[in-house]
Amino acid sequence: MSTLVVYFSQGGHTATVATAIAARLGATAAVIEEQADRDGVLGIATGAAAALIGHPSTIKATDHDPAAFDLVILGTPVWVGAPAPAVTAYIDRHRDALDRVAFFCTEARSGGAQALARMERRLGHPPLATLEVAEEALDDDALGQRLDDFLSELDETRTGSPQ
Ligand SMILES: Cc1cc2nc3c(=O)[nH]c(=O)nc-3n(C[C@H](O)[C@H](O)[C@H](O)COP(=O)(O)O)c2cc1C
Repeated sequence: MSTLVVYFSQGGHTATVATAIAARLGATAAVIEEQADRDGVLGIATGAAAALIGHPSTIKATDHDPAAFDLVILGTPVWVGAPAPAVTAYIDRHRDALDRVAFFCTEARSGGAQALARMERRLGHPPLATLEVAEEALDDDALGQRLDDFLSELDETRTGSPQ
């Protein structure tokens, strides 16, 4: 089964998780890039405001077409209890190619469940599996096990039974 791991990451945390997931699966990883400049307080403030109201940002074309993959794993940082605007834009652009999708997010402390629920509403159907990773868990030895659990949950949706 071909899998695309696609993510937006401002500070590298979501990229770390995406890279680890892709490495475990031997999958392709692709980054979502914005046109907007998010440097500085103004960039972050406008990004947070857009996230809060669910306004998508303008994103560049990604290297890989999600329609060419059997499964897409989509990752975002949590911004004010919402997905980053670039990820909202990605859902809007590729909705038809995201019939088999899983979501993950990274967060400082909280808001991940809310962000994942907002992604589900934006997409229009539930993802196959979700994963929420707090920053402090990134260096935790248990992260590898959590990634494995997430991936085996996805595998079960494919085979219809626990492995
Ligand atoms: C604009 C903005 C809003 C954020 N809002 C939240 C939040 O609501 N809850 C939270 O736990 N962390 C929040 N964070 C922290 C990020 O979710 C967290 O640092 C995440 O791991 C960043 O991922 P990245 O390094 O891939 O960009 C926010 C960060 C930014 C820049």
